Amino acid sequence: MTYTLNRRSMLQASMAAAVATSLPRTLFANGIAFADIPRSDFGFATTCDEVVAGHDLSGKVILVTGCNSGLGYDSLRSLAAAGAHVIGAARTMEKAEKACASVAAKTTPVVCELTDMDSVAQCAQDVQSLGKPLDVLMCNAGIMALPKLEQVDVNGVMLEKQFVVNHLGHHLLTRLLMNQVLAAPAGRVVTVSSSGHALAPKGGILFDNLSGDDGYQAFKAYGQSKLANILMTNELTARYAGGESRFTANATHPGLVATNLGRYMRRGKPRDPDAPLREGMKTSPQGAATQVYVSIDPRLDGVSGYYFGDCNPEETKGEYATDPALAKRLWEVSDELVGAWLG
Ligand SMILES: NC(=O)c1ccc[n+]([C@@H]2O[C@H](COP(=O)([O-])OP(=O)(O)OC[C@H]3O[C@@H](n4cnc5c(N)ncnc54)[C@H](OP(=O)(O)O)[C@@H]3O)[C@@H](O)[C@H]2O)c1
Repeated sequence: MTYTLNRRSMLQASMAAAVATSLPRTLFANGIAFADIPRSDFGFATTCDEVVAGHDLSGKVILVTGCNSGLGYDSLRSLAAAGAHVIGAARTMEKAEKACASVAAKTTPVVCELTDMDSVAQCAQDVQSLGKPLDVLMCNAGIMALPKLEQVDVNGVMLEKQFVVNHLGHHLLTRLLMNQVLAAPAGRVVTVSSSGHALAPKGGILFDNLSGDDGYQAFKAYGQSKLANILMTNELTARYAGGESRFTANATHPGLVATNLGRYMRRGKPRDPDAPLREGMKTSPQGAATQVYVSIDPRLDGVSGYYFGDCNPEETKGEYATDPALAKRLWEVSDELVGAWLG
């Protein structure tokens, strides 16, 4: 089934588009201009372990989705080693427990299957039941470039799977945990996007083809979902950052990293751990450095609505990632899609 907007949303979206075509970036980046964002000495080869060195994260509570593999696992490992209480979310309890048990630190395993909104809502409840403010919500889990169209049924609406796993499931998780993030002194939502956001189709988000039924291209669908990650960051900033609030939301690009992400293109085969790194490729601890940096570095207090690579701010690519009307519309459409779980 193709998802179509109701009349009210279409009216709101077109009105927003009329007034907000190309606002300067600072307007939705918490008043801090791109040039004023503090820069770090970290770079391409920095590892997440180097980023946390010298930080005492005791007392911080950090939720990482996709904690059992690649960038999520290295984030969990390094953040926990620096003293944070890391809540590790994976698709099954077995995977979450295995990842958590492998680090000798304070961790809590939880289940979060992002194609199943009941599971996402249960994960949010499990995190809420810990009764602690959430200092960082790291939306990391993801899939890439499924060779053939796969769909997920979300409350009777068929949706393309990368949109659901990479964006919609995280949208619901973030919405349900927002009060807990806002309860932290300076809560952060860090979403792992990709330079692949530049591959999004013309129009950015194909609201009339979220099912993929009217045409599917693996990397365009991945690009759309990674663009959605950035738009979500921008809309979180517009709604919650600035003023008295110390809340921030930022997106990251890890680089080209030797993880299991290519498994879908390899027909399910995991990456050979002994395969040499291709030129320009990072190890997983190097890839995880940026998302860990953006999660914890005090220099980024108050910096919101930006995109980081190699532990420094980077400009996004293309016209869509800085379009406030598109971000607002995506938020509203996403809310409608998961409305049954928002209460
Ligand atoms: N590696 C790169 O070069 C690269 C580049 C740009 C951006 N990224 C982004 O980095 C993030 C992490 O990817 P990675 O490279 O670390 O890949 P990875 O090793 O494949 O890890 C992906 C994680 O996401 C989880 N996941 C997949 N489907 C899920 C679902 N339906 N529900 C919940 N969790 C699910 C996986 O769980 P299972 O193991 O159980 O499937 C795994 O824990 C992704 O968002 C990706 O788009 C990676």
